[in-house]
Amino acid sequence: DAGEYDSFMYKEMLEQPAAAERVLRGRLDERFGTAHLGGLNMDPRETRAIRRVKILGCGSAYYVGQMGAALLEELARIPADAEAASEFRYRNPVIEPDTLYVAVSQSGETIDTLLAVQEVRRKGGRVVGLVNVVGSAIARECDGGIYLHAGPEVAVASTKALTNMFLGFALLALQLGRVRDLSIADGKRLIEGLSRIPGQIAQILEREDELAEVATRLAESESLFFIGRVRGFPAAREGAQKFKEISYRHAEAYQTSELKHGPLALISEAVPTVAVVPDDELTSRNVGALHEIAARRGPLVVVTHEGVDLGEVAAVRIDVPRNERELDPILLTVPLQMLAYHAALHLGHDIDKPRNLAKSVTVE
Ligand code: BG6
Repeated sequence: DAGEYDSFMYKEMLEQPAAAERVLRGRLDERFGTAHLGGLNMDPRETRAIRRVKILGCGSAYYVGQMGAALLEELARIPADAEAASEFRYRNPVIEPDTLYVAVSQSGETIDTLLAVQEVRRKGGRVVGLVNVVGSAIARECDGGIYLHAGPEVAVASTKALTNMFLGFALLALQLGRVRDLSIADGKRLIEGLSRIPGQIAQILEREDELAEVATRLAESESLFFIGRVRGFPAAREGAQKFKEISYRHAEAYQTSELKHGPLALISEAVPTVAVVPDDELTSRNVGALHEIAARRGPLVVVTHEGVDLGEVAAVRIDVPRNERELDPILLTVPLQMLAYHAALHLGHDIDKPRNLAKSVTVE
């Protein structure tokens, strides 16, 4: 059982700072501003030859894969994208020799991800795994990988494994970036940012009371939107996923940029929006969208950074600590976990075993 905690999800959320330290430990090279990932089994020449990265995972692992793709593009300037492994395996994918395939999985046993890996390898592609469970089926099937060292994760809703997946992608992007055009100064800047992440996650978790209050209000609504743009969108997707999984409320993620192309029609007093608005080059556009929502009386919760000016808009704001912009997505995700958890708790649901779901889907 979860000991002194009411649920494994709660325990695992609180374990995130320690888990994050474990995935980084021994892998940061401050001298050269890079990462050491011996388990990848690739020499610098092979690493340099990669022309594209394709990330495969299911559920939360797929969403964090989207964050990972953005990290790889931004830091290593390698075209990268994430796809649901459950879709990929059914569509006769083209496997390219200079593409690196990355399988992401907490359990290492998800059948859709495993079969996607086998499909790639059968066609001669190279696959590395970002896997938590040592010696699991996916870990064994890959050419190399990065173990996540999150420790056992029991709750269906992934928290600490997901955080470590993000950090695993940051390490991969650093290593791939530093054999390309990422400068040593930028490498060092990111290493410094990564070292601050565990403490910053702890700071967010300390604000539980405030987040619980917001969650209790959100739980009253039958339907919610989670919005974000570019760096903020995978966080919004993950936030909506968690919320629907355990609170059973209809939570839908949308790109902020797409709001006017559809979902704005549904905004009303009864439909709150949780908006992810980091301080970046798109802040003013995002704030513009908040005004559109407010004008239609949509209640707003905004996950943002201290000092971001939201103008006159009426919103409950949740400020997360600042880090390097590339690393923002994970810090923006942590309060969304807390919102989902407290909404489900308030509604009296089984936090660890949501209805109709399994921790890992291992059979077809
Ligand atoms: C789903 C779980 O079935 O599998 C999700 O409900 C999880 O929580 C997903 O993210 C992928 O699992 P894994 O073990 O491959 O990361």
